[in-house]
Parts: sequence; structure tokens; C-alpha cells
Amino acid sequence: MKLLVINGPNINFLGIREPEIYGKTTYNDMLATIEAYARQREVSISFFQSNHEGALVDAIQEAYYNKVDGIVINPAAYTHTSIAILDALKAVGIPTVEVHLSAVENREDFRQISYVGKYACKTITGQGVNGYLMAIDHLMDMLK
Ligand code: DQA
Repeated sequence: MKLLVINGPNINFLGIREPEIYGKTTYNDMLATIEAYARQREVSISFFQSNHEGALVDAIQEAYYNKVDGIVINPAAYTHTSIAILDALKAVGIPTVEVHLSAVENREDFRQISYVGKYACKTITGQGVNGYLMAIDHLMDMLK
């Protein structure tokens, strides 16, 4: 089973950006935690991060050719704006779990819409890095 973890804009600034909201764990620490968990669960995992909407669309399309079985995505701010990312996920048809580090439902009005959420089979919010591990569990249960 092959999973792909995609992170959107500013997620590479974890640990630096608004630590009161996103915590002090750095992006690299987060990847190491996810990688260790994937190893423990014996699932192959790869990572992609970009600050650019089109690059995220390209990564989703590439997942189709690479025969990725499941996607874990935190589209960050593009969650609330990007029909292109929603369309890319629908185009490839790969089971996808949406993850947000923060509890977006308790934040500003402009964070209350999620385009990706219209495709994702599950949305996990407010669990920090653990949300990504929960997403892996969900996809593995679903895909087995
Ligand atoms: C986020 C929530 C988004 O609203 C925000 O734009 C982000 C991060 C989260 O992980 O909580 O960049 O996706």
C-alpha cells in the first residue's frame, strides 16, 4: 500500500509560524514522526509540500501515474479557496483524508468552507501532528 502526504502553503514553516495555534513542532520533526509511524504500520509513505496551488495539483495528478492508494492532504489556506485542488482529487479518484492541525471549525468565518472536504472521505481537525497518524489509520482500514 502506497500513501502520499501532501501539505500546502506555510506548512513548511511549522514551529516558526503562530506557535500558539500550530505548536512548536517543526515541519521536519512532523515528517519524522509520520515516517516512523508509517514504518511501524508497514505502509510505504512519501511526502510533498508546496506553497503553490498548481504544484499541488501537479502532485495530485502524479499520484495517479504513481499508483498511490491513498492521499493525506492538508491543503492549508487553499482548503478554503481552491476548486482546482478539489477538481484534481476528483479527477484522480484516489481515497483522500483531509487533515488540519488546528480546529478550523472554531476559527474565523473564512475558514469555515472547505472545498477539499467536498471530496475527502474523512476530515480530521484539531489533533496536531497526531491527525496525520489518524488519517493513515483511516486509509489503511478503508483500503485493506
Ligand atoms: C490549516 C488551517 C488553515 O485554515 C490554514 O490556512 C493553514 C493551516 C491547519 O492545519 O490547521 O495554513 O490547514
